[in-house]
Amino acid sequence: MQDDIDRILFSETQILEGIDRVAREVTGRFADRPFTVVSVLKGSCIFAADLIRRIPIPLELAFVGASSYGGGTVAGDLSVNFFPAGHEIEGRHLLLVDDILDTGRTLQRLKSELLGRGAASVSTCVFLDKPSRRSVELEADLRVFEVEDLFVVGYGLDYAGRYRNLPFVGALRQEIFSAPAQDAPGPGRAT
Ligand code: IMP
Ligand code: MG
Repeated sequence: MQDDIDRILFSETQILEGIDRVAREVTGRFADRPFTVVSVLKGSCIFAADLIRRIPIPLELAFVGASSYGGGTVAGDLSVNFFPAGHEIEGRHLLLVDDILDTGRTLQRLKSELLGRGAASVSTCVFLDKPSRRSVELEADLRVFEVEDLFVVGYGLDYAGRYRNLPFVGALRQEIFSAPAQDAPGPGRAT
């Protein structure tokens, strides 16, 4: 698996230092109000787990499931597979947490759906931000790192369902994603 990585962009140590900083920002932002962290599955589960353990104030945790059809490095149609229960959304201040803000379509869609379901507010927090790829008007309220326009994997981020378990973030070697994916899961991968 490590042989498929061209170079490491963020080591485990750098990642945890970055998350410490953002955890302090989240703590300051929500110090005066109860809130719920809504982790976008599957990609943000590792980030969310590390982030919430560094936030020393009360919070609740919920999950939302989104899939983008396509399977490769280009996002296709987005579908939302499941939402938190109504009582976890209505009147609550939500912090929507995702692995990467790329075109922005996923977070824009989820934010408007959660507001439509009665959230009191929706803030956004992303592990990685690729501003050069944005196709909709959306900026994250909080982010750990900015990345250049490279396809990255590890620390929750996948290519064709793999590499989420790498403890660092690396750029995938060009040959891996330019070749047709071998026995990769079919369309409808969870983001
Ligand atoms: P969006 O384009 O902002 O809607 O991002 C959709 C999803 O695409 C993200 O949540 C990731 O799951 C995935 N994605 C975008 N860029 C990358 C990448 O460089 N590596 C792995 N997944 C990515
Ligand atoms: Mg994702």
